[in-house]
Amino acid sequence: NIEVIPFYPSSFSTVSKCATKHLNLIYHVDFDKRVLKGKVALTLEVLEDKFSSLVQFSSASAKLSLFYCHQSPFLISLQPHSMCTCEDLWVECRFLEILSFPGFLQSWFSIYEQTTLHLKLLYIFFVCLFFIYSNCFCLQQATHCRSMIPCQDSPSVKHTYYAQVSVPKELVALMSALHDGQVPDPSDSSRVIYRFRQPVPMPSYLIAIVVGAVESREIGPRSRVWSEKENVDEAAFEFSETETMLKTAESLAGPYVWGQYDLLVMPPSFPYGGMENPCLTFVTPTVLAGDKSLAGVIAHEISHSWTGNLVTNRNWEHFWLNEGHTVYIERMIARCMESEHLRQFKGIGGWKELQESVNQFGANNVLTNLVPNLHEVDTDEAFSSVPYEKGFALLYHLEELLGGPEVFMGFVKSYIQLFAYGTVTTEEWKNYLFTYFKDKVDILNKVDWNAWMHTPGMAPVKPKYDTTMADACTALCQRWVKAKEEDLASFTEEDVKKLNSPQLIEFMALLLQEEPLPLSHVKKMQEVYQLNSVKNAEVRFRWLRICVRAHWEEAVPLALKMATEQGRMKFTRPLFKEVYNFSKYSDKALNTFKENRGALHPVTAMLVAKDLKING
Ligand code: BES
Ligand code: ZN
Repeated sequence: NIEVIPFYPSSFSTVSKCATKHLNLIYHVDFDKRVLKGKVALTLEVLEDKFSSLVQFSSASAKLSLFYCHQSPFLISLQPHSMCTCEDLWVECRFLEILSFPGFLQSWFSIYEQTTLHLKLLYIFFVCLFFIYSNCFCLQQATHCRSMIPCQDSPSVKHTYYAQVSVPKELVALMSALHDGQVPDPSDSSRVIYRFRQPVPMPSYLIAIVVGAVESREIGPRSRVWSEKENVDEAAFEFSETETMLKTAESLAGPYVWGQYDLLVMPPSFPYGGMENPCLTFVTPTVLAGDKSLAGVIAHEISHSWTGNLVTNRNWEHFWLNEGHTVYIERMIARCMESEHLRQFKGIGGWKELQESVNQFGANNVLTNLVPNLHEVDTDEAFSSVPYEKGFALLYHLEELLGGPEVFMGFVKSYIQLFAYGTVTTEEWKNYLFTYFKDKVDILNKVDWNAWMHTPGMAPVKPKYDTTMADACTALCQRWVKAKEEDLASFTEEDVKKLNSPQLIEFMALLLQEEPLPLSHVKKMQEVYQLNSVKNAEVRFRWLRICVRAHWEEAVPLALKMATEQGRMKFTRPLFKEVYNFSKYSDKALNTFKENRGALHPVTAMLVAKDLKING
């Protein structure tokens, strides 16, 4: 009987009434009981006179109007116009559903719980024998912090935090913060307390915690890579360019303010490529290609240290400000470290991804707007390449209009300086754009802003990218598409030897845009290029889709294996869908999904179920 009124898109917190300034967290991670106990003291700044009366309601409704929190008594003592601290609050999360999943270690467990409210709320914990990770934050960056900390779960609120985490001695705790030493747990000699401090104000979605059997290697003066023992050396090799990327990003965007930049290789069920948790980027193990060829994900997460973490979207409708600018800086890093040709090549790939998202959602779907309306929308379901690639296309278009990469990066840097430590909306970004380019307002006035921002479908202007690197991919793709049976003998392994790894990926992406190849062609491709034995996840994923689309039955088990052995949504969702669309194997896809469902990340499982049209 408690009515919950959303005050802000995707959030239930009354951000105009008070603002969290600091969190003091204490966690006790109990692997035996599978319980995470926590205690948080919040320091709040009261912004409104009537605030004290609000909390005179029953504690339950007060807690729900103030914070979206679904457990435990919530006591708060407040005085208008002053800073105040909540009484201690205990949160106890019980891991309800424990299911096994093959992974790095013996088995994985996923846990989630439905709240009593109509909203889906997930416990953001994955537990394996000796590994637990949250991503309140990351499971679903937008709205899940509230399920592990009673907090104002809105990106418009920025605060610092301090945390103490008690874990069994054999394990390590990590958080999105600086390490502040470790001490024996005075209440239990088999445990140790790790301490963390995050002195830079940040939104709650960036709080992250991991407890696991992980080790680390130094990979730079401010960077370590953390991973399970088995692949820590491989990870140190893969990410050895981290410091060069950080320096390049600093030269573009200004000083790195977060002190440490560590990387953590996540379990295979991790649903994203990477997550920009401050001081500790989370990254999928599927980027461990063995040749550093997928390190672009790291350049992306590093770039978020400025756009996203330092300058933050005020609410999730302005997510493109986070992701579009981050993709822009990521590609500027590629330009500096490699070449302008590579940046242009990535632009072409990005446009194709935008096209795929638009096709997927439908060109009239308002979720393909750069600035969507998220009232009553589940941010997990709204997620797509649109904010990334329509956002990038807009920034690149402006770059072309306003004087090229150096000039436009100058604006981006200045925008970062202006809004650093704060939050921003599209309107404010645009106003600043007009101020910065005050001499070029006539050019800016010619931009069709409404079409770019508030109209569904593709971007209104298709950027002209240089095709130096893409030409070889297009040519080889067309050779295959046009080949008749009698031409197949002309293909040799030399064809792909001439392509570098991003080009091979692009070649396959192009094939996926064409009509399915005849089975004979795909079999020939395997014979000459030996693609079944390629481990690189980006290559393998596209190759298996090509095979399934050509109805090559032998590829079906390989595709389903990849869909379940790792859980990165970018791979798992299309692989399931592809097999499902091969009508002879629809049931196989459904059954494989059902068997593995509990082991998948809750968000991944929810979305695959939707893709496969399964209810509930
Ligand atoms: N912040 C995102 C990941 C994310 C998005 C988590 C939405 C939760 C909800 C991260 O920075 C990201 O964009 N990752 C990409 C990397 C790619 C663009 C290089 C990914 O996961 O694929
Ligand atoms: Zn991102």
